[in-house]
Amino acid sequence: MSPAVRGNLEIHPTSAELTVAAAERFVAAADAAIAVTETFSVALSGGTTPQALFAALASAEYSSRVRWPSVHVFWGDERCVPPDDEASNYRMAREMLLDHVPVRAANVHRIRGEDDPEAAAERYERDLRTAFETPTGPPRRAPGLRFDLVLLGLGTNGHTASLFPHLQAVRERTRWAMAQNVEMLQMWRITLTPVILNQASEVLFVVSGREKAAILRRVLYGARETDDLPAQAIAPADGRLRWLVDAAAAAELPAH
Ligand code: 6PG
Repeated sequence: MSPAVRGNLEIHPTSAELTVAAAERFVAAADAAIAVTETFSVALSGGTTPQALFAALASAEYSSRVRWPSVHVFWGDERCVPPDDEASNYRMAREMLLDHVPVRAANVHRIRGEDDPEAAAERYERDLRTAFETPTGPPRRAPGLRFDLVLLGLGTNGHTASLFPHLQAVRERTRWAMAQNVEMLQMWRITLTPVILNQASEVLFVVSGREKAAILRRVLYGARETDDLPAQAIAPADGRLRWLVDAAAAAELPAH
């Protein structure tokens, strides 16, 4: 069944159809980027929602449709835990996707969650600046010098990546990556900031489940309060912003 489309919002009837739509977008973004620069730089999201997408991309149906040796893998955020910790976004992506596709080890840009948080954030930013040939200053918008695709999820409190309400990273104006002590989770996290996220060629939010319905309505239709709702701070400067959601997550959206 085809999705209901409202501008940059696609509402898919089921989570399975949402996964297919997200996988198709991933393949299309990779094809488009590789056709221009021979590379595809993608920032993966963490948590539980992307697991179905990663499993789909690793499946026979999709894995052969991406030129994995040309893919550079980054993360939108990471928990400050070792890479084999069950909370690690890297571990989840490795188990669900990276171990099953021929991505080059040198092209997997892991955030070192096992290190001191501030040092890990600084090292990740250096890695990003090297990858995007931008040693200093703001991100550039040229192909190959920015993310081709950023995958993001939405937390029930309006956070995305590890941009949590009222924390400094939401308001950051120069750094690309920051360490954040997320007291509500009793956990340190490393997150990309809107500075680099909003220079991406495409940002894709993938939101699934009835528990996200209230926050999705607030983020998409409520007043703009980026400090309260950091997901609202994501607005690509000249890139595409798409919301792929399932009907359960869209349950509280106003009738079209
Ligand atoms: C993380 C994610 C985070 C996630 C949201 C939604 O590290 O947890 O980057 O931003 O996308 O918390 O998480 P779920 O998909 O598990 O609901």
